[in-house]
Amino acid sequence: QSSARTLPNICRHPMPDPIRYDPSAARSLISETTRQSISPALDAARREVLADVELMQAGANIPPDKQPLDAGFIELPAQLLSDAGGRNRKHSLVKRIEVAASRMRRQVDRLVLLGIGGSYMGLRALFESLCPPYFNELPRKLRGGPRLYYEGENLDNDSARALLELLQSECTKPQRLAHRWGIVVISKSGGTLETAAAFRLFRSALEQYYGDDSPRTRELVIPITGESGKLRSLAELKNYPTTFPVPDGIGGRFSVLTAVGLFPAAVLGIDIRALLQGAADMTQLFKSAPFGQNPVLDYVATGHLMERDHGANIRVLSTWGKRLEAAGLWYDQLLAESLGKPKGDGFCGATPITVVNTRDLHSRGQQHQEGRRDKLITNVIVDQPSSEPLKVPQVPEAEDQDQLNRLDGKTWPDLLAAAIQGTNQAYADVRRPTADIHLPQLDAYALGQLLQMLMLATVVEGRLLGVNPYGQPGVEDYKRNMGQILYG
Ligand code: PA5
Repeated sequence: QSSARTLPNICRHPMPDPIRYDPSAARSLISETTRQSISPALDAARREVLADVELMQAGANIPPDKQPLDAGFIELPAQLLSDAGGRNRKHSLVKRIEVAASRMRRQVDRLVLLGIGGSYMGLRALFESLCPPYFNELPRKLRGGPRLYYEGENLDNDSARALLELLQSECTKPQRLAHRWGIVVISKSGGTLETAAAFRLFRSALEQYYGDDSPRTRELVIPITGESGKLRSLAELKNYPTTFPVPDGIGGRFSVLTAVGLFPAAVLGIDIRALLQGAADMTQLFKSAPFGQNPVLDYVATGHLMERDHGANIRVLSTWGKRLEAAGLWYDQLLAESLGKPKGDGFCGATPITVVNTRDLHSRGQQHQEGRRDKLITNVIVDQPSSEPLKVPQVPEAEDQDQLNRLDGKTWPDLLAAAIQGTNQAYADVRRPTADIHLPQLDAYALGQLLQMLMLATVVEGRLLGVNPYGQPGVEDYKRNMGQILYG
């Protein structure tokens, strides 16, 4: 039933190891005195971020200069876990998600997730990081749950049509599990055109397949949306029995640890309690640890000082492993939409770029080594692979043209470690700054910590810069134009 039993050490691995932020390689450019000088401002930013939480919890009027205020993500993980362990645990959101997710796991073999931006990128990060590579290709008994497809995150005719045709050709006998598919549609506002159009398309295919108004059609559509809006009204009209809320006070790109990420993650067999625990522990550390031992404040300090004093306004998140690419893309959105804003007569917000190494050493590496000195490279390193290390095979001497027999006994992790060390050394030799985030292993607990660390760091940096990290008013411009073009 659960993928925990069939995929040891991949989806579920509740090891309480903290992730670690190590900026020591950037110290060649940032003196200890400079670093310490920013400590009071960082403390003030932390106080402001926490005061924002209290303001929301008190239900007080939000002052105009604070609007929008979406600090709800900060305490949510601890709150959800406490509800899930409390007297009313059966009715807690976590329990309801787990029950509905395990039903969906039993009911379908393919899940189509519709959403865009914060309503899709977080789940994609969870899926790619925590489920095994080639997940969709694995036999059902190893997957334990449905395959996953995304749509509504674009307006790509060929991709949407290809998915529809795939579903139509592979799913012809709705009574058989292997032929059943369902939809999770996610939109906080409920009015995003990409998602809404895709929902129409896939909903009508689903209705055709199972029957217009059959109970199965209704059961196999799970809307996740705000308390009001077009998707909410449609869900009520259609009488879908299971819906989940996107809470007020949590913006799209901060919503990965709400039902937005948690429900589909649970359908995939990811341990959502471990995710929440990692995030709750990170919030606790952020609140209590002093500068120098606080991964959030330390991360902000390095980025801010590199930008302020050395013009490093490009932040490269250098992920050492393919499974972290989507987490990097999630962070691209988080940083770009939160801090890429006007400030006074100018602008603020570093430009995020995700790379996956060693792949991108062969594409961007040249520029990072010898190009403009406008980058801070933050490595994300997973200390232990999730599966047994592969060894470089030995071959008969006559076939050793590639001379790899010299690597006798070396494993893939050994090669990767050498690449990380060699690359960091090459940057250090020419005074190019790097910092490292270490994940002990790629599991739900570590990922929960990482996502929460980066969300907290983003809002702290916003407060430090004097810019509101919540909201994304600039995104409305294209939507307005598009609406005028389409509707006149
Ligand atoms: O961070 C955000 O709020 C945005 O990126 C939204 O997630 C994105 O625009 C999708 O919005 P919605 O969930 O309302 O469809």
